[in-house]
Formats: sequence, C-alpha cells, structure tokens
Amino acid sequence: MKRIVVLLSGRGSNLRALVEADLPLTIAAVIANRPDAAGLAFAAQHGIASQVVEHTTYASREAFDAALGDAIEAQRADLVVMAGFMRLLTPGFIRRFAGRMVNIHPALLPAFTGLDTHRRALERGCRVHGCTVHYVTEGMDEGPIIAQATVPVLPDDDEDTLAARVLAEEHRLYPAVLRAWCAGDFGLEGDAVAWRGGRTWPGAAHYPAC
Ligand code: GRF
Repeated sequence: MKRIVVLLSGRGSNLRALVEADLPLTIAAVIANRPDAAGLAFAAQHGIASQVVEHTTYASREAFDAALGDAIEAQRADLVVMAGFMRLLTPGFIRRFAGRMVNIHPALLPAFTGLDTHRRALERGCRVHGCTVHYVTEGMDEGPIIAQATVPVLPDDDEDTLAARVLAEEHRLYPAVLRAWCAGDFGLEGDAVAWRGGRTWPGAAHYPAC
C-alpha cells in the first residue's frame, strides 16, 4: 500500500476528510510545525503517528526545512500531502520532494494565490470560486494543477459563508484526487499533469446544491 505523510499547521479538517474517505493508502504520519495544531489531536484519536517539527526552534528556514525533510523521509512516504501547512518552503526542500508533494489551495488557481482568497474573490466580484489540488513547485501556488472544484458565489455571501462552501468541496476533492493517485490515474510528465488509461480528473466542474 502506498504511504503518505500529511503536513498541517492547524485545524486539520482536510486530514479528517482523508481519514473518513477510507482511502487505500497508509497515512504514515502527520507532521505539524505547531504543537497546538488541532490536527495533531485528531491524528492521536485515530491512532495515526504524529510528530511536531517546530519552526520556531530552528535558526533558519534552511535548518527547519532540512529537519522537516528528514522527518518525512524517515516515514518512507511516496507522497507528501500538504493540508493547511502554513509555512513557505525553501527551494531546496521543494527540489528534494519534486513531483512527490501536493497541496490544496482554497481558490481556483491561478487566481488568488496566497492568503485571504475568499475575501479577495468577493472583493473582485467573482461569480464562481473554488479550490485546487496541485503539485508543489518553487513558485507559491503555481505548480501543475491536478484537479479543481467550483462553487457559486451567492449574492449574500460573506467571507465565512463562502469559505464554508469551498471547504465542503475541498473535503470531496482531496480524497478524490488521492484515490485517483492510488490507482495510478495521473502523474507528472515534465511540467504538466498527465491522466492515464482514459482517466480524467475526478472533480469535473459542478455546482452543488447550497
Ligand atoms: C484549507 O482551506 C486549505 O485549502 C488551505 O488551508 C486550509 C486548511 O484547513 N491550504 P484544514 O486545516 O484542513 O481544516
């Protein structure tokens, strides 16, 4: 069975969605950069090994990333799954896990990289918003897109209602992508995602009832 390591910094609702999806993979460990990350408690409750690599205890970004990379490699993970990991990673770290690291971002990339995506989508008058799972490359939120899910932006939305609608889609999209990855349905070919065996991405644009 393939092995993943999940990296997180906080709430851990995407971790919960992955666990509840009962995927044909092993979550070898959850690694957090903050000891108070709620996702660690969830991991403990579900018998998943966890580890804290606390960024504040390292003298430099490079030193932190080296320790984090060593912790990941000790788990012999096939894939590093970032799920709300709120640290910028050094180019060296990203090269170390090139093609073996994915992230979920709460916007339809390439729009709204970075933070505050829901507020910015509202401010720009977007009528459609969503989330993206992508490979991680050196440019922040710029890696090859694996799959996306969309939601409507409703006239009376505020940041919280829109965030909740997107998060519900994240919780469907990330497990669907990892299920496809387990089946070998896609991979990186050069700088692009290639779908194999007639498969296509599992989140074809949809507008769920809301
Ligand atoms: C999600 O919105 C994800 O898209 C972003 O960080 C948030 C993590 O939420 N990268 P959670 O910790 O999984 O609840």
